[in-house]
Order: sequence, then structure tokens, then C-alpha cells
Amino acid sequence: MSPSGPVPNPRVVYARAPSGLPIPGETTIYDPTPTIDINHASLNGGILVKTLVLSPDPYMRKRMRPTDVNTYFPVFEPGQIIAGSGVGVVVRSEMDEYAAGDYVYIDRTMKWQHYSTYPPTDPIDKIRNDYGLPLSTFVGVNGVPGQSAYHALKAFGNAKKGETIYVSTGAGAVGSVVCQLAKLWGLKVIASAGTDEKVRYLKDELKVDVAFNYKTVPVEEVLAEHPLDIYWDNVGGRVLETAIDAARPGARIIMCGYISEYSSQPRYGIKNMDLAIWKCLSFHGFLAWPMHKANPDAFFDEMPRLVAEGKIKYREQVTRGLENADRALREIFTGENFGKAVVIVADQQV
Ligand SMILES: NC(=O)c1ccc[n+]([C@@H]2O[C@H](COP(=O)([O-])OP(=O)(O)OC[C@H]3O[C@@H](n4cnc5c(N)ncnc54)[C@H](OP(=O)(O)O)[C@@H]3O)[C@@H](O)[C@H]2O)c1
Repeated sequence: MSPSGPVPNPRVVYARAPSGLPIPGETTIYDPTPTIDINHASLNGGILVKTLVLSPDPYMRKRMRPTDVNTYFPVFEPGQIIAGSGVGVVVRSEMDEYAAGDYVYIDRTMKWQHYSTYPPTDPIDKIRNDYGLPLSTFVGVNGVPGQSAYHALKAFGNAKKGETIYVSTGAGAVGSVVCQLAKLWGLKVIASAGTDEKVRYLKDELKVDVAFNYKTVPVEEVLAEHPLDIYWDNVGGRVLETAIDAARPGARIIMCGYISEYSSQPRYGIKNMDLAIWKCLSFHGFLAWPMHKANPDAFFDEMPRLVAEGKIKYREQVTRGLENADRALREIFTGENFGKAVVIVADQQV
């Protein structure tokens, strides 16, 4: 039974563009004062959703920029509620496809607010949870990070058993799935991470062949010993340049992310692009969302089963409470997250 009358409806509001890392309380503000009457809030043909899990993601930093700097991602406007991806439960619905109690995944437009309405035009998917996995996995291993790894490694890796792949941020949300799929497909996996604890996880839990801390061991030294056929790039910048140097002729470079440069200006300029010609390298940039939209069943037929069977493992960095969500977002850029960053806003009941 929904409470009658107004209930608190806290939110996180975007205040201004950070010059480096986002600063909770300055570039984003937690505002506990709004309220909502969930029985009477106008739906305008859409749905009212209680937010359960939010997904702080690296691309959100690209939305925190001065309005005159152009990129693929639309800018956050000062005063706007922060939005990203997340999972919620439908409280009321004026849409035939959804009923109260349905769990939904909302892609990139889920508001960082306890209760929100969404129009039918928003990217909303009912969650397909054949194996009863935790809802938080649908922003992680069963969500965009897992989908990035699955679709792009299949489409662009052209992986042959025995080849070598190097994965940067190998212990992260995307990287850890890439490492494990690559092992399942018979590749030799070299992975780097930014702490010794993450390196131990890569070796002991994910069973990669070579793991190292890129902050204490030069990437070029490791790659000189293990020339690569595939580079899964989560970081861009100087590490990408090093991987191009270490690539074998015909290597595939899968460009997933550029996190080393999201908060810095000017950006690092790659100096060895001519090697792309001499070594016949191919570069594949991609966005997970359109790749997944084109073939969601391929992913959902396979990945949740692999997770349920324990063949793909996952870790989460769980933060509880919307009031801590902007701290969780910042931690992605300091490397304090160990596993997929998730924010639990509320437990699963309506
Ligand atoms: N193309 C797509 O559709 C798509 C979809 C999802 C994600 N991505 C990209 O994939 C990458 C990984 O995302 P994720 O969600 O899996 O995040 P994640 O790896 O779980 O977390 C981010 C990690 O990046 C590393 N990092 C942070 N700042 C860094 C810096 N300045 N230089 C080098 N490493 C840094 C840290 O790991 P260490 O402690 O190991 O340094 C941190 O834990 C990001 O670049 C993201 O933008 C792309």
C-alpha cells in the first residue's frame, strides 16, 4: 500500500561543471527538501518509478561540462537533476506495457531522485531476470558494462584461441567481464589495474595469465614480454600509445573508453598513429547501447546464465543512500571503486 499524502523525494542536482574531478556538495548538490504525492502525481501517459539502484558511470563526467563544449553526450544543465542508468520498480502506470510491481531498467534518463515519472518515449526496459539475480547486476555484469564486453569483443575481437589480449582497468566493471570472456574463449589475458588488491583479484579470482599494477610497473615492460593481438582500451591516452607500440601486425584495438582523459585538459596526443599503417592495425570505437539494442536476446540468452553458473564472476562497490551517490561517482575517477559502482537507493519493495 502506497503512503497517502506527500512523502520526501530527495534528489541530486547538477550545480556546475567541475574543472577536474566532480566535487560532491559543490559541482553536485544533494537536496533532501522536495516531496511527492505518489498516489496523485500526474503521469501524462507514462509511469511513476521508485528508484532502487543507480549506476554511477564514467561517461557521466562527459555530461558535466560547459555548455559550449560539444561531445556526443548531451550536457547537464545547472539546476537539472542528475540522470544516468538505473533500476526501479513501477509504482503506478498509464502504459499498457508496465504494471505496478514491474522491475524496469531505465537507460541514461533515470533521475537521481527517490521517485520520478518517465514518459513513454524514454528508454525503459522490463527486466528479464530468468535466474533471479540481484537487481544491481542489471547495471553491471548484466547491464551496459557486461553488454559492452560481450557485444564488442565478439564483433571486433576476431579472437583466435591462443592469441594475446591486453585489458586496461581489468578489475573494473567492463574490464573484468572482458578478461573472463577472453579466458573462456581460450585467449592469453594480460590485465592491468591501479592497486595491488585489484591485481590479486585479477590473478586469484579471474585467473588471468598476467596481471600488474600499472602505477608501479611500466606498461611497456610488460607488453614487451607479451606482444598483443587485441588491446581492449578502457583508458586511452599514454597507455593506448604504449599498446600501439606493443601490437603485433594485424592487431585489433577495441576502443571502449578514455577514462584517463575525461577530467583533464589538454588531452594527451597519441604520437605513434603511423604504426596503424605499417602494422595494419584496425581500430574499433563503439557504443554499447546501439550494439545491444540491435541484439538484446543474444546477450540475455547467455550472460545471465554464465553469471548464475559462476562462470562469469562480478564484484560491486556498493554505496547505500542517494545522499552518497555523488561521492560514488567521484570514486570512479580516483580508482577507489573496486568493481562496478552501484548506489542502492532503496530496497526492492514498492
Ligand atoms: N563504449 C561504451 O559503450 C562504454 C560502456 C561502458 C563503459 N565504457 C568505458 O569503459 C571504461 C571502464 O568503465 P567501467 O564502467 O568499467 O568503470 P570501472 O573500470 O569499473 O571504474 C573506472 C576505473 O577506471 C580506472 N581509472 C580511473 N581514473 C583513471 C585514470 N585517470 N587513468 C587510468 N585509469 C583510471 C580505475 O581503475 P584502476 O584502479 O584500475 O586504475 C577505476 O576504478 C570507461 O572508460 C568507460 O567510459 C564505455
